[in-house]
Amino acid sequence: MASVTSLSDSVQQHLASALSATLPEAAGADPLLRRSDRADFQANGILALAKKAKANPRELATQVVSQVATGTELIKDVEVSGPGFLNITIADQAITRNLAARYADDTGRLGVPYAEHPGTTVIDYAQPNVAKEMHVGHLRSAVIGDSVVQILEFTGENVVRRHHIGDWGTQFGMLIQYLDEHPHELDHKASAEDAAASGEEAMSNLDRLYKAARRKFDSDDEFKTRARRRVVDLQAGDPHTLAMWQKFVDESKIYFFSVFEKLDMEIRDTDIVGESGYNDMLAETCRLLEESGVAVRSEGALCVFFEDIKGPDGNLVPLIVQKSDGGYGYAATDLSAIRDRVFGLKANTLLYVVDARQSLHFRMVFETARRAGWLGEDVTATQLAFGTVLGKDGKPFKTREGETVRLVDLLDEAIDRASAVVREKAQDLSEEEIAERGTQVGIGAVKYADLSTSANRDYKFDLDQMVSLNGDTSVYLQYAYARIQSILRKAGEVRPAAHPELELADAERALGLHVDAFGQTVSETAAEYAPHKLAAYLYQLASLYTTFYDKCPVLKAETPDQVENRLFLCDVTARTLHQGMALLGIRTPEKL
Ligand code: ARG
Repeated sequence: MASVTSLSDSVQQHLASALSATLPEAAGADPLLRRSDRADFQANGILALAKKAKANPRELATQVVSQVATGTELIKDVEVSGPGFLNITIADQAITRNLAARYADDTGRLGVPYAEHPGTTVIDYAQPNVAKEMHVGHLRSAVIGDSVVQILEFTGENVVRRHHIGDWGTQFGMLIQYLDEHPHELDHKASAEDAAASGEEAMSNLDRLYKAARRKFDSDDEFKTRARRRVVDLQAGDPHTLAMWQKFVDESKIYFFSVFEKLDMEIRDTDIVGESGYNDMLAETCRLLEESGVAVRSEGALCVFFEDIKGPDGNLVPLIVQKSDGGYGYAATDLSAIRDRVFGLKANTLLYVVDARQSLHFRMVFETARRAGWLGEDVTATQLAFGTVLGKDGKPFKTREGETVRLVDLLDEAIDRASAVVREKAQDLSEEEIAERGTQVGIGAVKYADLSTSANRDYKFDLDQMVSLNGDTSVYLQYAYARIQSILRKAGEVRPAAHPELELADAERALGLHVDAFGQTVSETAAEYAPHKLAAYLYQLASLYTTFYDKCPVLKAETPDQVENRLFLCDVTARTLHQGMALLGIRTPEKL
């Protein structure tokens, strides 16, 4: 299926050629086309061009207008306004024809073209820690990362996913030693088929074991010594110790997968390459850094210094790649991962969806990799840093007892609340359907709340607001979609069909022009890694649809052609909503 040129691109091309016909030196200049309240589009670019050419902007604008053919299939009218803006009105038939071409795209892409020069992006997201509970911070990385993956893939980018789980470190000495002394602590009692049930059991096993091991470690000095020896065995690759460590990783993965499944997110085992995955590279990474002089020994540790990074005491704060006791830390792992991703996976772009509190770490890691020549001119590295999830009181989200909130508990509560909302509105839904929709609405609400604010900002986790039917929520969007499906069902035998010869009402034009802007929104969203732009677009789409629905009767329209054309507008809107929501990782149930 061929892609569809958007109306704004078509107008842009017309204006650009009118411009260069009027002012040859303006060839290739951007007429700066924007949607406008006064007409369909406004072009603001002439002012700057006139200034450059020392011409009168209004005169130049008038000359350009005379070059633009109006009353055509595309442009109904163009006029000069203000100091030299152009106001452009699109022909009704162009809007309908454009949407009809999008509607005919049976790939579900709505005629949106692929990016011209796709590359390879390695995205690091959804990275919980082994033997630890998942909390709201892990929610953000997973939700934002998953959406960015969908959006980039939609543009044609080759995306490699990496879940950099925390699966290595000294705490494993204590855990492994305890498990070795109490060998059945991780056994599963029930062979539950259900991922959620076995996930819950896995976490409670890990939690119990962690607490017991910690108690023993703190109270029994001999155990402490044995645990420390285990760390050495683990780092030396002792097979028995490694096998025990693997048990913790496997048990944790059962848990992670159950949470990701609850989040309605596909995480593949092969994409999980945790910190331990780079162990073989660490020594070489350090050797290369030291030989090139990028890192230097300081008090026994291998360090990289940065002129502009100082601590509160005014002393330089280094990135430590190897501790004085020979141990490698988080930085050595991340530097090795960069080598693997650039040279092994051939990435053009490295993306890290990680808490803003790790920004200094990534700044230092990226700069080190640049100095070492691992990040060249042709590779960009970006931390898509996200802010903190706050409670209703505006403080970091905690339970009343001051503990971090378990992610699963939050998700369950969201599903409960959403199910109550669905039940209240449900007309012809069975109990089973209410449960299924409740999950889709609840999980959608959590994702949407996260994705609709720009990632770098903190946001309040407020379930009442998230599942509200009014306002900028996923529920509102899901209801808009379900309402359209209900109209399409009611239409029965009458099928949606485009009738370009029909005149459009204002609400129809506004809706149609917005549907046309889907592709441009996706490409901007992808370029800036900013899912909140797509969320804002979809919210506006649903709002424009609501206005259309209030003003323009669909099944009771004046003529049969108009009924078909309005059904067609409904359906193309629904498809756009569906595709857009899918890029945010949110379901659009057919009935609510
Ligand atoms: N596991 C870490 C955490 O929970 C996040 C890992 C981020 N990715 C990375 N390449 N350092 O905070």
